[in-house]
Amino acid sequence: RTVYVNGEYLPETQAKVSIFDRGFLMADAVYEVTSVLDGRLIDFDGHAARLARSLSELEMQNPLSRDELLEIHRELVRRNGIEEGMIYLQITRGAPADRDFVFPDPDEVKPTVVMFTQNKPELADNPAAKRGIKVISIPDLRWSRRDIKTVQLLYPSMGKMAAKKAGCDDAWMVEDGFVTEGTSNNAYIVKDGRIITRDLSHDILHGITRAAVLRFAREAQMEVEERPFTIDEAKAADEAFITSASTFVFPVVEIDGVRLGDGTPGPVATRLREIYLEESR
Ligand code: PDD
Repeated sequence: RTVYVNGEYLPETQAKVSIFDRGFLMADAVYEVTSVLDGRLIDFDGHAARLARSLSELEMQNPLSRDELLEIHRELVRRNGIEEGMIYLQITRGAPADRDFVFPDPDEVKPTVVMFTQNKPELADNPAAKRGIKVISIPDLRWSRRDIKTVQLLYPSMGKMAAKKAGCDDAWMVEDGFVTEGTSNNAYIVKDGRIITRDLSHDILHGITRAAVLRFAREAQMEVEERPFTIDEAKAADEAFITSASTFVFPVVEIDGVRLGDGTPGPVATRLREIYLEESR
């Protein structure tokens, strides 16, 4: 596999990053995951815009213009022959000489840029989309700036592990009784035909797939309500689903062992996945 590191395309075994890199030592880094369908990037501009915002919120310089970023994405897709899969991009504050809690002077450090591809032949035709996924609920113990897409993913990883141990697929995180989001996706419920999903704030990541799915839903005359919903409300919902660049739309069929509807993917989630795939291709 060819990867990209700081301006160079290299075989993955030759790619190197300093052990002093703040991304490695302090999770002082942001990332994006962009999916590829039929060899084409999905929602590239949304991801590029969110990346710029994450960087600016952390007072990090943006080392690449939108056009440069697009060029590298395309080059990696081409070199690795990706038809269906994703591109991972990470930008760290860089590698200062010593470990220090204080940010290094921006003039004295260069951000580290790393990009690689992942082949995912089952992105569009995913068995989990047909079966639906099961989720557990866990408390949301992350920091309170979840709108910044940082690489601090230990807690979401632990949530995913807890779900696995419980024989489930993912965890929905709950704060003050309200669902924030999934470990790596946005969360939705459907009640009496209305799609309900948490409104945008610092509490959740502003999903690029979320924006697209809500736009498609409104265009299809579906009713959308952006507001927090409780985990109890979710368990009593007609259906539920998640969205992200790596899942698109996955129906949720069970929450904490409570089956939603008849325990099979609901019509709204199924329809939204179809529309998403049609519109993205
Ligand atoms: N995760 N919420 C969280 C906490 C996420 O990590 C993600 C994405 C989303 C959905 O955002 P988007 O639609 O822009 O992918 C919501 C990526 C896919 C990941 O960590 O792999």
